[in-house]
Amino acid sequence: MTNLTVHLPGLTLKNPIMPASGCFGFGREYGAFYDLSQLGAVIMKAATQEARFGNPTPRVAETTAGMLNAIGLQNPGVEQIIASEVPNLASYDIPVIANIAGSSLEEYVTVAKAFNKTTAIQALELNISCPNVKAGGIQFGTDPELAAMVTKAVKKVSNHPVYVKLSPNVSDIVAMAKAVEQAGADGLSMINTLTGMTIDLGNKQPLLANQTGGLSGPAIKPIAIRMIYEVKQHVSIPIIGMGGIGNAKDVLEFLLAGASAVAIGTANFQNPYICAEIIDALPDILTTYGFTKVTDAIGKGHGA
Ligand SMILES: Cc1cc2nc3c(=O)[nH]c(=O)nc-3n(C[C@H](O)[C@H](O)[C@H](O)COP(=O)(O)O)c2cc1C
Repeated sequence: MTNLTVHLPGLTLKNPIMPASGCFGFGREYGAFYDLSQLGAVIMKAATQEARFGNPTPRVAETTAGMLNAIGLQNPGVEQIIASEVPNLASYDIPVIANIAGSSLEEYVTVAKAFNKTTAIQALELNISCPNVKAGGIQFGTDPELAAMVTKAVKKVSNHPVYVKLSPNVSDIVAMAKAVEQAGADGLSMINTLTGMTIDLGNKQPLLANQTGGLSGPAIKPIAIRMIYEVKQHVSIPIIGMGGIGNAKDVLEFLLAGASAVAIGTANFQNPYICAEIIDALPDILTTYGFTKVTDAIGKGHGA
């Protein structure tokens, strides 16, 4: 029998598959399709201090091999998430990871502190990489010093292990990864979306109201694999990999590149059962390629 279990800081995963932040809401809609207890874990939509309505529409667009989004961190605010969404997710037998965002260092700290009030989440994912908000977000994710500063500040106040989600919109991803590892991050999540744009031929203007959006889906998979592979050679904290995963073979590719677990984003919009289907298919794929344990595959693409 193939052993799918993975142990990460603060998280024991019965399999390495989790839905990516922002592509699964708070699980309510998907919970109507299948039993979420099958998942390795769930990563919630980003939480900010106050409720956010998000950006004006249109804020999503299809592209040849994925999508563009400029949702702008729509969420009901951290207190509402703790009161009504966390208990629902905690009723499933899976670890819950809170994704947090902010437009200032203080906001990250406030939101991280708020999550100390609940024992029903097991880890934080720091979204320092959202390309769709005016202040904060991406600035923290493109400057190693700012990324280290926000990581340190959150680590100082939080009771939870902290995974820092890196932006691919940088020229040196290794520098970003090293900076947050040195600042005390317990793990990395990578990658977030790449900034893109599409033009509406009808009115000859950018289609998204925000003009630019984050590109996700199969188009970004080779970039994610390359960045994880590079980062794995320079850091010793675990990596949760994401970016264009659509099947169990993709998952194995991410594990070989150096991810210890993975998150599935855009594929959920095309097929709401995708996470459950990948979990079902994973043992056979691992066996086909000679692995009896998920953990044996992690980093094997590096010739070790
Ligand atoms: C509609 C949408 C909303 C997203 N919202 C968030 C978010 O709130 N926080 C976050 O860290 N990442 C967010 N992401 C990024 C995803 O979690 C993921 O990193 C990215 O989409 C790459 O994975 P994929 O290609 O499998 O979608 C969002 C992505 C999409 C498509």
